[in-house]
Amino acid sequence: MTVEADDRDPPPDGREGSWLACVECGTTFPPFAAVRYRCDECSGLLEVRYADPPTFEDFRGRGRGVWRYAPALPLESGVSLPEGDTPLHRVPDIREELDLRALRVKHEGMNPTGSFKDRGMTVGVAVARRVGVDRLACASTGNTSAALAAYGARANMETLVLLPAGKVAAGKVAQAALHGARILEVDGNFDTCLDVVDDLATRGEAYLLNSLNPFRLEGQKTIGLEILESFREEYGTVPDRIVLPVGNAGNTAALYKCFRELAAAGALDPDDVPTLTGVQAEGAAPFVEAVEAAADEVRRWPEVETRATAIRIGNPVNAPKALPGIYETGGTAVAVSDEEITAAQRSLAAEGVGVEPASAASVAGLRRLREDGVVGADERVVCLTTGHLLKDPDAAAAAGADTEPVPGTTEGVLDHLKG
Ligand code: F0G
Repeated sequence: MTVEADDRDPPPDGREGSWLACVECGTTFPPFAAVRYRCDECSGLLEVRYADPPTFEDFRGRGRGVWRYAPALPLESGVSLPEGDTPLHRVPDIREELDLRALRVKHEGMNPTGSFKDRGMTVGVAVARRVGVDRLACASTGNTSAALAAYGARANMETLVLLPAGKVAAGKVAQAALHGARILEVDGNFDTCLDVVDDLATRGEAYLLNSLNPFRLEGQKTIGLEILESFREEYGTVPDRIVLPVGNAGNTAALYKCFRELAAAGALDPDDVPTLTGVQAEGAAPFVEAVEAAADEVRRWPEVETRATAIRIGNPVNAPKALPGIYETGGTAVAVSDEEITAAQRSLAAEGVGVEPASAASVAGLRRLREDGVVGADERVVCLTTGHLLKDPDAAAAAGADTEPVPGTTEGVLDHLKG
């Protein structure tokens, strides 16, 4: 059973023994004393650190979903709808086609607003209440805005979302609109939107809830915790590889952090850490470019284009946290074409799993790496599908079957079926 916290209760205190640390220079800060997204000393990215990271024993008997994992989070409870506890689907046809020892699909589209962003928002919006801000904001390719609009509404807070004009899928804009966010359509791409909202946040005009916000990634860590717990239950081991789409590389960073904390707590053998494998669309692949060059920095792509609009991003801001995750786990990154993405979306749909294009990139990438022999037949793999099919109804309709006009009579329908 999942217990929903009463979101109008006073915000909970932060966890004892947690602080913020700069990933570049190591400077530390108290977690909630001030609103801070970057290091005061060197502007590096911040992450939450814990004196005593938990083991799986600490989650026993704590219900399901994101807040099961409260011992691994900076707060005891959040603004919850609730989120997490998503299915780990079997996809026997794709597994057979790719000839893999095991293949599961973690369908994050089954979260309350239809994407993994809810896991980050339940924590991030609770922190916003804790630090006492009154206006929330994000830049978004769509899913972050839908999640922030819903969690902002739940917390009774004003919410601004900055979207690249004309480049956000219909379902996502509809969600942000109905949940009552102010939708600012920006003349520019996602990266421009993030530049602006980052500036607004620095000027104190709004609380930033993009994945630059270190608290959001704490919630997203729970994807890794759920995968490892379920996998161990079923297979007695952890997956060899996790394949996921990459935009800002927040999820990649969050999964790596999850594994590091488990290893530090003695709950995961460092030799067993799943190999992190990122996938981007060919038209928006700066992260792949960096991994292929074994670089520790990403070059910003000024122009990006792909049908997978959720990952139409040229400046993956979490790269400094995510690239080490790829390198340290022995992973890789691969770019796939829009056609490969649509083919993977159809393959998943043919097994009953409905995902949006960006999500299908994970399966498209796995297919490519299997063909190239990078992924071996002996591997147990989990693909992450990050958003629901209904997020992008236009892409789904274009990839799916055509409608067939028929007369309004049984005979007419039967004739049509015979013909
Ligand atoms: N998949 C989907 C469906 C997404 O919406 C996103 C990011 C990603 C993958 C990439 O995740 O950024 O952690 O590497 N969407 C953001 C948004 C940018 O605004 O909704 P990442």
